[in-house]
Amino acid sequence: MEKHFDFHHSFWGVVVVLLLLVSGLSVALSDGKPEWTAATPVYQVLRYLGEPKADHELRSTERLVKMGEEIVHRGYTVGPDGKRSRYVSKYYVCTSCHNVQREDPDLRVSDPEARLPYVKAKGIPFLQGTTFRGIVNRESWYNDDYVKKYGGEAIGKAHKSLRESIQLCAVQCSQGRPMERWEIDAVLAYFWTLQWTLGDLGLSEEDYQKLRKESSVQRDKEYLRSWLKTFYLQKSPAHFFDAPPDKRKGYGLKGRAAVGKDLYELSCLHCHKAGGVSHYILDEGKLSFKHLKSKIEKDSHMSLYQIIPYGTYAIPGHRPYMPHYPLERMSKQQVEDLRAFVERMSK
Ligand code: HEC
Ligand code: HEC
Repeated sequence: MEKHFDFHHSFWGVVVVLLLLVSGLSVALSDGKPEWTAATPVYQVLRYLGEPKADHELRSTERLVKMGEEIVHRGYTVGPDGKRSRYVSKYYVCTSCHNVQREDPDLRVSDPEARLPYVKAKGIPFLQGTTFRGIVNRESWYNDDYVKKYGGEAIGKAHKSLRESIQLCAVQCSQGRPMERWEIDAVLAYFWTLQWTLGDLGLSEEDYQKLRKESSVQRDKEYLRSWLKTFYLQKSPAHFFDAPPDKRKGYGLKGRAAVGKDLYELSCLHCHKAGGVSHYILDEGKLSFKHLKSKIEKDSHMSLYQIIPYGTYAIPGHRPYMPHYPLERMSKQQVEDLRAFVERMSK
């Protein structure tokens, strides 16, 4: 009799516990469940599918976003103490070298040839630094040959940390001062407003259905995560290249002057127009083109074949320098295109 009672007792106990568990679970699931629309952040979907939290995740406020936006576009903001902050760099703002808009039609490849007409249509420049759009969705920064170029401890830390990358760029790329913790938080808060959403990935209706349906099955989550990541790059690849051994022959590719014109206007003039970040002024006049042309075949840092793959270096007393273009930011074909344009315009 006692046993019988016990059995009943534990039986109903188990039922109650199970019911509680199931209802508790379903509440938890619907809480974190994304809406699966074009506006749903990719990061939210990945988190829902079990992705570990990113180190650069942070609690953001509108005020913090605004401060970050001002630092990125203007170089300073009004700090938490109500005072105007100091310029991060005397020479550049972040947008001297980075866009904040999407710059690739296909997020699965980093192809400068596809990028050029794409940024042109948007009316934004074609630059050495990678866009900040989607930067929080990357998993490493300063990749490939940048790791080799900078080497050492700084790059080691930056390669795996967006916070450290921002700091490295403030000090190295921008030749500026180290940023304070709140400034980095602010820039990150702004970067989070630029994250990829499902709509950016070009998913088909079937893809959306697959996500919605299969995401509730535990064993499919890891698969779905890696599947979703095939729609965009998790890093901005960077491979450096050299000047051709014979500058007269160049890279042996036929230049297209019309493409060269776009490169000149969307890239070189972004920094070299009057009032830009460089003392070396370029414009659409014959003198500019004649000067550039006279250097092409020379063994000079001013040759297109040298300035593009190697840039210039910051030296004491003259800190502004020109960042070089990795192959993913300007192809050899595009260097020839620029040459063709410069040669045509100097005639
Ligand atoms: C003079 C040019 C220049 C300026 C100014 C500049 N950067 Fe950069 N930055 C670069 C280059 C070149 C890279 C190399 C990697 C890339 O973006 O492809 C880079 C890389 C980065 C990266 C890593 C990107 C990646 O995915 O690998 C971050 C983050 C970054 N910069 C943040 C900033 C911030 C924030 C500022 C302003 C405070 C800034 N940068 C100013 C040129 C610049
Ligand atoms: C992100 C800004 C930026 C972009 C884009 C850029 N440059 Fe520069 N460039 C500079 C800076 C800064 C210098 C350093 C010279 C100075 O201090 O003014 C420089 C230096 C040069 C020099 C050497 C000038 C000298 O007096 O030694 C040449 C030549 C040059 N750039 C050509 C180009 C060409 C061609 C392009 C387009 C393919 C280009 N630059 C794109 C910023 C830029």
